[in-house]
Amino acid sequence: MTVANGRDFLAIPGPTVVPERVLSAMHRPAIDIYSGSLVATTDSCLADLKKLFRTAGDTYIYAANGHGAWEASLSNTLSRGDRILVLESGRFAHNWGEMGVLPGLDITTLEGDWRHAVDAERFEQVLREDREHKISAVLVVQIDTASGVVNDIPRLRAAMDAAGHPALLMVDCIASLATMPFEMDEWGVDLAITGSQKGLMMPPGLSFVAAGVRAKKAHASAGLRTRYWDWTMRDGPEHYMKYCGTPPEHMLFGLRCALDMILEEGLDAVIRRHELLAGTVRSAVTGWAEGGAIDFNIIEPAERANSVTTVAATGGQDCARLLAFCENQCGVKLGITIGDLYGKGFRIAHMGHVNAPMLLGVLGVVEAGLQALDWPHGPGGVQAAVNYLGEHLAD
Ligand SMILES: Cc1ncc(COP(=O)(O)O)c(C=O)c1O
Repeated sequence: MTVANGRDFLAIPGPTVVPERVLSAMHRPAIDIYSGSLVATTDSCLADLKKLFRTAGDTYIYAANGHGAWEASLSNTLSRGDRILVLESGRFAHNWGEMGVLPGLDITTLEGDWRHAVDAERFEQVLREDREHKISAVLVVQIDTASGVVNDIPRLRAAMDAAGHPALLMVDCIASLATMPFEMDEWGVDLAITGSQKGLMMPPGLSFVAAGVRAKKAHASAGLRTRYWDWTMRDGPEHYMKYCGTPPEHMLFGLRCALDMILEEGLDAVIRRHELLAGTVRSAVTGWAEGGAIDFNIIEPAERANSVTTVAATGGQDCARLLAFCENQCGVKLGITIGDLYGKGFRIAHMGHVNAPMLLGVLGVVEAGLQALDWPHGPGGVQAAVNYLGEHLAD
């Protein structure tokens, strides 16, 4: 028996739901790539991306997924043999660091345990021990999409300042931009990246880099520069070279529309919506967790992300069955857990084009699944989620 027929719902943490308005904006004929409105679209997107990153630095648009932005960040600022310090708190900073293997970077990792944010005190200690300042750049994610952790970027910056360490601070905001506060300039972040397919409500395929003054200075002597990713090339006046080739124009039509939607709602309101929806999910998980079969992967409540909740199946239940129930019988595709957590839980995304009915629907389906599969769980998860939302939306 199934009640899945109707509109499927994608609750994986990227790609996320693409609004009809964005899809419609992309559904149009190609236009000239050398002059006219596309040039203005590029200029306005680059300018509006600065508003999202909250920087006066330079922004770049790549026809690439997030791995492309990772490569752009390293190749534009570093040279063969430079040391980078990866701050592990899940999967993605580690993978970013791996992008440095083939170009010949020297990678060291401050290991984490996937259930906590990066330990700022241990980080500061590592920096203090680097007396010769061999570390050129520090790589950290703001939200790790695998573990569901949020790292405290101002706290990490403070650790660098306290240690008097000059390394560049590079932050991956792929799962966090436009879902929680990020203040690139105010927080002293030298370089930040994001992708199109999560909080920005676009299909996958574009990624973005914001470079501050210190990153641009490092660029001047970077030995890993290659023509495709090169900022100098893209800083020039020629529109075609801002993409090192044919602009991905339909993606740009979509991006323009998605940025309009974010700015019309207001960045602060978008972030507040994400906070409320994250709180709604957490209320449900807290309720379910009373039964003992599931719990939050991230132990400290303050370290749980606004954009994705990673739920651990602590009772050893078969998560594939729950995922299959939600998808096949109810039409909701939840995220699998990945990397070290593979098979040990599930992820609920709450980022991008998501509102209360979408999310309450997902939570209702998960609770139905817990019941159908007889997983020991507290019975009041969805009720707690509804209560949370009602309380927080009351005037
Ligand atoms: C935090 C984070 N960084 C980087 C990436 C890699 O992005 P992509 O898969 O677009 O290359 C992802 C993908 O999910 C991510 O969540």
